[in-house]
Amino acid sequence: MSTVTAESSREHRVTVPSLRTRKRRGERIAMLTAYDFSFASLFDQAGIDVLLVGDSLGNVVQGHATTLPVTLDEMIYHTRLVARGARRALVVADLPFGSYQITSEDGLRSAVRCVKEGGAHAVKLEGGRAVADTIARIVAAEIPVMGHVGLTPQAIHRMGGHRVQGRGESGRASVLADARAVEAAGAFAVVLEGMPAELAAEITRSLAIPTIGIGAGVDCDGQVLVMHDLLGLSDGAPGFAKQYANLGALIVQAARRFADEVAHGKFPDAEHSYR
Ligand code: KIV
Repeated sequence: MSTVTAESSREHRVTVPSLRTRKRRGERIAMLTAYDFSFASLFDQAGIDVLLVGDSLGNVVQGHATTLPVTLDEMIYHTRLVARGARRALVVADLPFGSYQITSEDGLRSAVRCVKEGGAHAVKLEGGRAVADTIARIVAAEIPVMGHVGLTPQAIHRMGGHRVQGRGESGRASVLADARAVEAAGAFAVVLEGMPAELAAEITRSLAIPTIGIGAGVDCDGQVLVMHDLLGLSDGAPGFAKQYANLGALIVQAARRFADEVAHGKFPDAEHSYR
């Protein structure tokens, strides 16, 4: 008799259909952002289900104040690096600001480039009812789409900052309508960002597709964090983000020791020199 453990019952490769099966079985989904080959390989080894090449790279990799300056070419470049490191995980590329808002054709063209040039398995885009036609257009071209509603960082100027969405009766109804529109348009999953936990729970119950929460409480079908927040590589991580390691401090310590040993002629020693 063989024992099926959580580990051995895991998918050989995470796919769009397997994520839907996960929701039906009540198995949660772990998603992290990744922007390069090394971290993608490590997260893949760790069993992370979905690697999101987030346009948050505008903040954490490029040092911008918002995600708005990120270009489609930059997203494709980083997606290519991540796709090379992902053996099991599903790779999702964010469509950056300006690459899908003007026309649905733009959205489709951008999504095709992320798949064809970047090696993405799916794309993510922000918005609800306003982008439903674009989602449907991309899905009709056989590219799976992940939606993203609630606090949508590309709408930072409309929201007046990174503010929790869906509070009050009309805010709540609006986010719920957006989530439903995203599902009706054919998205395979939806990110719920920055909203009351109880609203995210209601959306999760009312949709057949998996919800992935960030600052949206524990009742979503999965959770996502920005890798720099998880690993302690960012200053000023948001309050909802849990830091699981403090790599920032370790990196500073290691670099200081290196500089010190160079200054004192201790590196390289005989062990690290050729004869
Ligand atoms: O760009 C990003 O990293 C994201 C996640 C925070 C969901 O959209």
